[in-house]
Amino acid sequence: MGLSVLIIGSGGREHALAWKISQSPLVSKVYAAPGNPGIARHAECVPLSVDDIQGLRDFAVSKRIDLTVVGPEAPLVAGIADLFAKDGLLVFGPDQAGAQLEGSKVFMKTILQECGVPTADFRVFDDYDEAEQYVLTHRLPVVIKADGLAAGKGVVVAQTYEEAVSFLKETMETGVFGSAGDRVVIEECLAGEEASYIVFTDGYKVVPLPSSQDHKRIGDGDLGPNTGGMGAYSPAPVMTPEVEERVLREVFDPLLAALRARKIVYRGILYAGLMIDNGVPRVLEFNVRFGDPEAQPLFMRFSGDLVPLLLQCARGKIDDASIEIDPRPAICVVMASGGYPGKYAKGCPIEGVSDAEKLSDVIVFHAGTAMEQGRLITGGGRVLGVTAIGETLKGAIARAYDAVDLIHWEGAYYRSDIGKKALLRRGV
Ligand code: AMP
Ligand code: GLY
Repeated sequence: MGLSVLIIGSGGREHALAWKISQSPLVSKVYAAPGNPGIARHAECVPLSVDDIQGLRDFAVSKRIDLTVVGPEAPLVAGIADLFAKDGLLVFGPDQAGAQLEGSKVFMKTILQECGVPTADFRVFDDYDEAEQYVLTHRLPVVIKADGLAAGKGVVVAQTYEEAVSFLKETMETGVFGSAGDRVVIEECLAGEEASYIVFTDGYKVVPLPSSQDHKRIGDGDLGPNTGGMGAYSPAPVMTPEVEERVLREVFDPLLAALRARKIVYRGILYAGLMIDNGVPRVLEFNVRFGDPEAQPLFMRFSGDLVPLLLQCARGKIDDASIEIDPRPAICVVMASGGYPGKYAKGCPIEGVSDAEKLSDVIVFHAGTAMEQGRLITGGGRVLGVTAIGETLKGAIARAYDAVDLIHWEGAYYRSDIGKKALLRRGV
């Protein structure tokens, strides 16, 4: 009998995880909670919400789940790993103390400062008047971050004092992010190019995935409001081998040591959001989970079995740090509902996914989809992650957009420049 695995989440990242994990010869059964119609091809979906950590624990106990892989940050910050551990259940993902790296910007910035990891200069405020006074003396642009989880909306890079003060008021006085906005971090704005660097760790050893890059803004040319991520590719040429080496030495080694000094042995994924300026990396943020949509191209390049590494991290000892990575570049283009990240319609019938999947080297990962009377319909802001791999980045981009062209629904929106920055950097 092989292992039974539970994947928590319902987005494109979790579809990529389900696709990869279900290919493992070590695994005989995969469940997903709550999953989506794409995930349902690889896993049995159970209608439990990612926030219902007690219900998830009861389910894992009743099904004797061997390994639970947590996709999103919220259950980790809520302490799912600690809760499961009480019943002897193995979880891939950090405990509540470790998850504070994403759950509290103040915790994250303080620990980085303490161990000398390069990051933007900052100050912490829990009093509105003091924060306002400080922000008005700060050079523009100025960056303000709500301390706690705010579904990706808790950060502003303010170009004017009006914008800064209005974000500060909404966060600290109106309370649009609830208690997550009781404290704020005000920090200097860094220049450069962003990249994601994601590693597996057992708290001591680090196994890096290849670099990747997200496209956070809604519009071509990185214009318009921030989103959960409109597309990603791997590798990111801005992350040269020298920069990677620096990040491992200057960021991950001191951070893991500082965590251990606080009795936090961090197990799972550690994702550094970096700003790279002329080869100098600085940390913008940490996430305690795989990136979405970075996971989609990364898993397309991950050619070995993912499960042994997940198990080793969850058990707290990486013995075999070798991973097989396809050298070819991969790219994911996110197709979203028109209007996202603002208001958008749901329930639009989606056509052409099976035609797109007939193209070689293409996988269509589901994010916000649903089924209605046997038809695939839209059910969220980010709907699909159309992912392709190719001999060259240019080829992978062309293949992904060929697939995108075959998929239709009313109001479908996607960026047309995913990967362009990497092509320009390479001079292709
Ligand atoms: P965070 O959630 O901290 O990653 O912030 C979200 C986005 O805001 C980042 O992906 C950056 O695009 C931007 N950002 C955050 N902090 C800074 C900073 N100090 N300087 C420039 N841009 C930033
Ligand atoms: N792609 C950014 C994130 O997952 O937070």
